[in-house]
Amino acid sequence: MSSRASLVERFRDRLPLGPETPIVTLGEGDTPLLPAPRLSARLDLDVWLKCEGANPTGSFKDRGMTVALSKALEEGRRAVVCASTGNTAASAAAYAARAGLPALVLQPAGAVALGKLAQARALGARVLEVRGSFDQALAAARQLTERGTHVLVNSLNPYRLEGQKTAAFEILEELGAPPAVLALPYGGGGNTRAYVMGFEEAGAGLPRVVAVESSLRAETAASAIRISAPVHAPEVAQALERTGGLIAKVSDEVLLEAWRALAQDEGIFCEPASAAGVAGLAQAQLPSGTRVVCVITGHGLKDPEAVERLTPPPVAVDPDPDAIAAVA
Ligand code: F0G
Repeated sequence: MSSRASLVERFRDRLPLGPETPIVTLGEGDTPLLPAPRLSARLDLDVWLKCEGANPTGSFKDRGMTVALSKALEEGRRAVVCASTGNTAASAAAYAARAGLPALVLQPAGAVALGKLAQARALGARVLEVRGSFDQALAAARQLTERGTHVLVNSLNPYRLEGQKTAAFEILEELGAPPAVLALPYGGGGNTRAYVMGFEEAGAGLPRVVAVESSLRAETAASAIRISAPVHAPEVAQALERTGGLIAKVSDEVLLEAWRALAQDEGIFCEPASAAGVAGLAQAQLPSGTRVVCVITGHGLKDPEAVERLTPPPVAVDPDPDAIAAVA
C-alpha cells in the first residue's frame, strides 16, 4: 500500500495507458516546487525551482521510465537498452528491476558521474563502458534495437516524453497558471519537448521556454549534458518557436556559479548540469519580477566528484573545543 499516488495514477487519463497496462512504478513525480527568494532578489525575478532530484532515482528520467517500462511489459518486450551519460541508465536499471526485465546500459567510458554508475551497478543492470562518446553509444544502442532483442528506453522512445510531460501538469496545478518563463537544461532535448507537449496538452497557455545548453557541449564539466549532437534538435527548435522561447548557451564558469548559488543560497544541492536553467536566465533579459520556473533535473549526490573539484576540502581538527573554535 502506498499513501502517495504515483504520477501514473494521477494522470492516467492523459497517458497512453489502458486499463490492462501493468504499471511499473517506484512512486515518481509530485516533486517539490519551491520559491527561491535569494535568487529572485539577485536576479530581480520571481524564481521557482522544480526539484526533480526528489524522484526515486534522483532525476526527472523516472517520470518517463515508469511509462516506458509499463508499456514494455504490456507489449511483451523481454529486455531494455539505453545509452546514457548516467541518469537514464540509473532510472532504466531501477524500473527494469521493478518490472523484472534485464537492462543493458551503454555508457561513455570514463565520463559518467560516480553516483550514477553506482546506481546502475547496484540495481543489477549490465553496464558496458563504450570506448567512445555518448553520441556514439546512442548510435550503437539504436542499431542494436534493430535486431529486435531490446527495446530502446532513451527519450527517442515516445513513452518517455509522455511520462515527462506530467511535470508541466504539476507546475500548472501548483501555480494555477503557466509561469511566464520555464528554463531547463538542454542535452538531447527530450525534456524540452516533453514540457512543451505538457503545457500544450493542458491548454492553459504556454510559458516562454528557455532551453539552456553548454557552450562546450562535447567537453562540459556537466557530464549529464556532454552531448555533441542533440537528437531532438529539429523538434526542439519548432517547440521553442511555438513558445516564443530561445536556446541559451552558457560557459562552464557561469553554469558552476549557478550550481554554487543554488546550493549555498537556496539549499538545493543538484548536479552541475541541473543548474543550467538558472545559469541561462541572465541571457534571456527578462523584465523585472517575471515569474520563472527553473527545472532542477538531478540530485547533487549523483556527482560527488564535482563537489571535490569545486568546494574547499574539510579541515581536520582534534576533538577539542578550543581547536574547533579556532578554525570554525
Ligand atoms: N539534466 C540531467 C541531470 C540529465 O541527466 C540530462 C540528460 C539532462 C538534464 C538533459 O535532458 O537530454 O532531455 O535534454 N541526461 C541523459 C542521460 C542524456 O543519459 O541521463 P535532455
